[in-house]
Amino acid sequence: MKNTVTTFQKAKKEGTKISMLTAYDYPTAKLIDEAGVNSVLVGDSLGNVILGYKDTLSVTMEDMIHHGAAVSRGIQNALLVIDMPFMSYQTSVYDAVINAGRLVKEAGANAVKLEGGESVCPQIKAIVEAGIPVVAHLGLTPQSVNVLGGFKAQGKDEKTARKLTLDARAVEAAGAFALVLECVPSKLAKLITQSLSIPTIGIGSGNVCDGQVLVSMDMLGVFASVSPKFVKRYASLGELMKEAFSTYHREVQSGTFPSSEHEFAISDELIERLY
Ligand code: KIV
Repeated sequence: MKNTVTTFQKAKKEGTKISMLTAYDYPTAKLIDEAGVNSVLVGDSLGNVILGYKDTLSVTMEDMIHHGAAVSRGIQNALLVIDMPFMSYQTSVYDAVINAGRLVKEAGANAVKLEGGESVCPQIKAIVEAGIPVVAHLGLTPQSVNVLGGFKAQGKDEKTARKLTLDARAVEAAGAFALVLECVPSKLAKLITQSLSIPTIGIGSGNVCDGQVLVSMDMLGVFASVSPKFVKRYASLGELMKEAFSTYHREVQSGTFPSSEHEFAISDELIERLY
């Protein structure tokens, strides 16, 4: 059954947890969808884990549309959320609606996600009024890395914790149907989760949230050197991939690949006629 905004609302009401994973390509999206995960996020973490940038700031609308469309082709049942990249909505309400519309029309998004609280509420309201569901994102908001002074947990003192609770209520009032809470202390995430009627989706914010999201490359263990505290590794895909690549390299060099089972046959008689 197709997951929709209503599925998220029902899950919050009934206390059923929501699962979300990131994907950036057709095969990963297809596998996540077939595994029954509720939602796929084409995150702008695309910049870090696929495009090799040091942060998400260089990611463009064209990048998000290109990868979003590939992911969309792999999905049947999961709700597809696509991130609005840096400077695609901060500039004006008009830009926000136009660019959210492009993610729906050109990439097949069911919903869009954007970072920020009260300051982006006019954008959230206008996008929702245009008929596009919005997921808000608070806490560690990587597009504001230069303001935050690095990638670190947020809301650890009274001022920032209070601001987070106010921002959470503001994005709900503006019409967001879900809220991603990234790297927020779990007790604060619990307070926010209990105060909202929309589901919270946590990443690094404890199991008190109404759902969880992880970057698929992190949970699959693709990069041995990257292991944030909040990530659980469900596989060591990086090691497996490297092992397969080096075995292939050795076999090509030694001539053991391809062997006869990988060849196509033709009659000797026909070959002789060609000489
Ligand atoms: O870009 C992303 O992958 C995200 C998740 C970390 C929530 O925003």
